[in-house]
Amino acid sequence: MVENKHWDVVVVGAGPGGYAAAFRASDLGKKVLLIDRDKALGGVCLNRGCIPSKALLHISKVIDDANHLSSVGVVFDAPNIDLEKIRSYKNKIITQLNTGIAQLAKARKVEFLCGAASFLSNNQLLVKDKKISFENCIIASGSTSSMIPNLPDHPSILTSRTALNLDCIPGSLLVIGGGVIGLELGQVYSALGSKVSVVEFMSELIPGADTDITKPLVRKLKKQFESIMLSSKVVKVEALDNGELKVFIENKKETNTYVFERVLVAVGRKPNTDLLNIENTDVKIDENGFISVDVYQRTSVKNIYAIGDIVGNPMLAHKATHEGKVAAEVVSGLSSAMDARAIPSVVYTDPEIAWVGLTENEAQEQGIKYELGEFPWAASGKAMILNASQGKTKILFDPETKHVLGGGVVGPSAGDIISEIALALEMGSDAEDISLTVHPHPTLGETVASAAEMFEGTITDLFIPKKKKKND
Ligand code: NAI
Repeated sequence: MVENKHWDVVVVGAGPGGYAAAFRASDLGKKVLLIDRDKALGGVCLNRGCIPSKALLHISKVIDDANHLSSVGVVFDAPNIDLEKIRSYKNKIITQLNTGIAQLAKARKVEFLCGAASFLSNNQLLVKDKKISFENCIIASGSTSSMIPNLPDHPSILTSRTALNLDCIPGSLLVIGGGVIGLELGQVYSALGSKVSVVEFMSELIPGADTDITKPLVRKLKKQFESIMLSSKVVKVEALDNGELKVFIENKKETNTYVFERVLVAVGRKPNTDLLNIENTDVKIDENGFISVDVYQRTSVKNIYAIGDIVGNPMLAHKATHEGKVAAEVVSGLSSAMDARAIPSVVYTDPEIAWVGLTENEAQEQGIKYELGEFPWAASGKAMILNASQGKTKILFDPETKHVLGGGVVGPSAGDIISEIALALEMGSDAEDISLTVHPHPTLGETVASAAEMFEGTITDLFIPKKKKKND
């Protein structure tokens, strides 16, 4: 075994959380080692998740927009899909970003070591034959796709990782799990020509988001997909001799069988704790395998921190990045803490959906009082131009203080628009702060101001009849 240098900070995992932590710690003067079992930096998000899926979703959105244009007098031929070129477009973006991160590491003198890291103690890690000693460690080792039990090990059963390789466009695809990954990749494959079906365990798609926000997406998916089976689960999958898969799907009444060319499993993700030999440390994990941390991202061991998917939901890159910076700053002696008021969620489907802070579902479940400012995009000129009149922007306000509690958006660029509501929430803004901010016209962003005006009763783009007083 080779004894390696001693490091101020060792970061395990080079995803958006890990590299942010490493770079921030280095910028604050620490000697930093970044370790990943993959030699390409950027983690799942960049190499096998957010970035490649959004590159493919961009293509499917353009195909859909081109279809729409035929109804306004601009008719394109049916798309000619060249999978090889699509793959290289996607891979080029990944490589460009990988290279960029490697350059940023080099510029900061953050050293990178490729290999799987496992703990030897509260102060040492093992990577291949190298023993690494550290003052502080930040665990950012992410998550892996969960599988459902009793699935055969078969090349036609895909995870988000293999589905993004885009090896072929199957004639038929069953997506198990109507959550974020299932619907995003389902739309990609549908746009490229697959007949897509979805089976979801719960009674609605994207459980957790408010139904008024998911409604325009569900309406579209009902047209786009072969079938959407809700309150249903896959109980068995059998591989057929011709390479196809026979799938047994159970709903409340019966079990039906279907045959698909490919099956994509998108039923959530599990933390990568099992790879770390965490039992060689005093770090506590919970019953689901997540590492428990405090607001300083510190585990039960004072010099070991954890960030990102490995500490629990929401498993989102931007949450990991934020936590990574907090951990690096705490390690470096700054008085930072994870005190973000809210983490925005975005589903990059067409239409996009996004929400931040309190949802109506949560408010009702928890008995929290709120009032709504809702602006239907049917009254937005920009939305009309973009064929997005079904969109909507809504903000939940505290009825007493008029402060923003949360918000939701559905429509193109919802994921961009939600940032303004997140900022308002983080800054403790009230309805007037938003409505009196001059928004450019015509934009989708101005629907945020319009939602605040709806709440305040100052809207002029719509007519809201005054409530009649009793003696009128
Ligand atoms: P998810 O939790 O969003 O959705 C999984 C869905 O599968 C749920 O609706 C669940 O009810 C359903 N399900 C579970 N077991 C089932 C079964 N046996 N049969 C049928 N349905 C079943 O998880 P997903 O989509 O796999 O994503 C994993 C994580 O990755 C999420 O935490 C998500 O936040 C993150 N992610 C975020 C993205 C984004 O920000 N746009 C994109 C992709 C992933």
